[in-house]
Amino acid sequence: MELSIKSGDLATRKTPCLLLGVLGERQLTAPAQSIDAASGGYLTRILDRGDLEAEAGRTLLLHEVPGLKAERVLLVGLGPQDKYDRKAYLKALAAASGRLQEIRVKEALTTLAASAPPALDPALALRDAVTTALDRGYRYDRTKSEKKPPFTLQALHLWIGDEDRKPRAREALRQGQALAAGVSLAKELGNLPGNLCTPTYLADQARDLAQAFPALKVEVLDEDAMAKLGMGALLSVSRGSRQPAKLIVMSYRGGKKDAKPLALVGKGLTFDAGGISLKPGPDMDQMKFDMCGAASVLGALRATLELKLPLNLIGVIPASENLPDGAANKPGDIVTSLSGQTIEILNTDAEGRLLLCDALTYCERFEPAVVVDIATLTGACAIALGKVASGLFTADEGLATELLAAGERSGDRAWRLPVWDDYQALLDSNFADMANVGPREGGAISAACFLSRYTKKYPWAHLDIAGTAWLTGKEKGGTGRPVPLLVEFLIQRAGLAG
Ligand code: BES
Ligand code: MN
Ligand code: ZN
Repeated sequence: MELSIKSGDLATRKTPCLLLGVLGERQLTAPAQSIDAASGGYLTRILDRGDLEAEAGRTLLLHEVPGLKAERVLLVGLGPQDKYDRKAYLKALAAASGRLQEIRVKEALTTLAASAPPALDPALALRDAVTTALDRGYRYDRTKSEKKPPFTLQALHLWIGDEDRKPRAREALRQGQALAAGVSLAKELGNLPGNLCTPTYLADQARDLAQAFPALKVEVLDEDAMAKLGMGALLSVSRGSRQPAKLIVMSYRGGKKDAKPLALVGKGLTFDAGGISLKPGPDMDQMKFDMCGAASVLGALRATLELKLPLNLIGVIPASENLPDGAANKPGDIVTSLSGQTIEILNTDAEGRLLLCDALTYCERFEPAVVVDIATLTGACAIALGKVASGLFTADEGLATELLAAGERSGDRAWRLPVWDDYQALLDSNFADMANVGPREGGAISAACFLSRYTKKYPWAHLDIAGTAWLTGKEKGGTGRPVPLLVEFLIQRAGLAG
């Protein structure tokens, strides 16, 4: 989709469809007022008939409005003024995109970003307008015989009132486009079934990304290489699978030569049946989404590459399946991790931490400024926070503030849970340095405590996205989360104006 920033007189702009916001039932936003004046009060007369309900997301399509060059005008309800917040704005944007698809116009000019809630940073308002439009264009049909009709909108022009704001608006547009590309990559990988999206496939995806963006360097460690290093925890998970495990290591150096890199580590379980501690049947298909942490790392890298962010970034993806088999881990087995610490595997379904611990130890070699791991790690986190917030775990106050703020700004929120030492004893084992599970109570926290034992050498945070990475029911599918949070975090770290 072609996107551009426009300013200047609205009434004289030629467009197949002009989008104008209306607050309440009939309160015209500033751009709508200018059009109303140019049309001799036409909009006011129509709205006085009460055809637009005062609810965010209602729309009213008008044809041949007098005095304009626009072929159509789409009035978009923003809801009551006193309730006009970012949520209502996003709802209006989504409804507007839906309506544009219904009427199949190829091009439109929207003023909605210029009529965003006053409390919302104008750059974010623009980014929201861009990402909502582009997200609407994402459709999964890779494994359907009937391909969905493509999104008809080919060009979206975003009007901003003030000519002076064009440079900032162009930057916001660039960020929105990059972010949407990252989100769509993460959604697509999440949605692909486990028989197609294997560890090898994820490695190929990383190589494809490096092909498209030569600034990215990729190295894929196979099982032999991992065995030589001593990744006994990771390899114990893939032993029960016919798909070989991969450790995908990606590096982008857009920052100063001597600047320490940031590192993102994503859980890449391309299918999690639980292993010998087999999961129950219902909803097991959803465990194809157990690689959404990995998908978010690839998505965030893709956005970073498109934005050419001035920072150094490492992406690490430990990828494997978790299946029952004669060679699989058994409850009671003890493995030695890359760090040298031994682990008693009391439940083979707690496999994510076995992958992550070795990947996290591997990160030490990069002397990272910070490591953030992203994982669909525990059902307990989804029980605690539902599908609204991702779980954030870190002992680093500064990092917690940064990541929570990135979540707020991107609208992809996280909520902090403790990783206090008081919880560490839950992992005591009589036979190894630690057990891989604690009791059910506090399950998300003991999982984070487990990881904390492998991240002593650098500042570290853990995002548990078990609840947020995908939706269920009729809307079943990947959400692309937490790519928006991660990209916002990286934008801030790079010192770019958000
Ligand atoms: N991938 C799952 C976590 C998960 C479960 C995410 C359901 C989303 C929805 C993870 O590997 C797992 O199985 N965790 C276990 C840990 C338990 C055995 C301590 C869980 O949450 O049940
Ligand atoms: Mn599991
Ligand atoms: Zn898992």
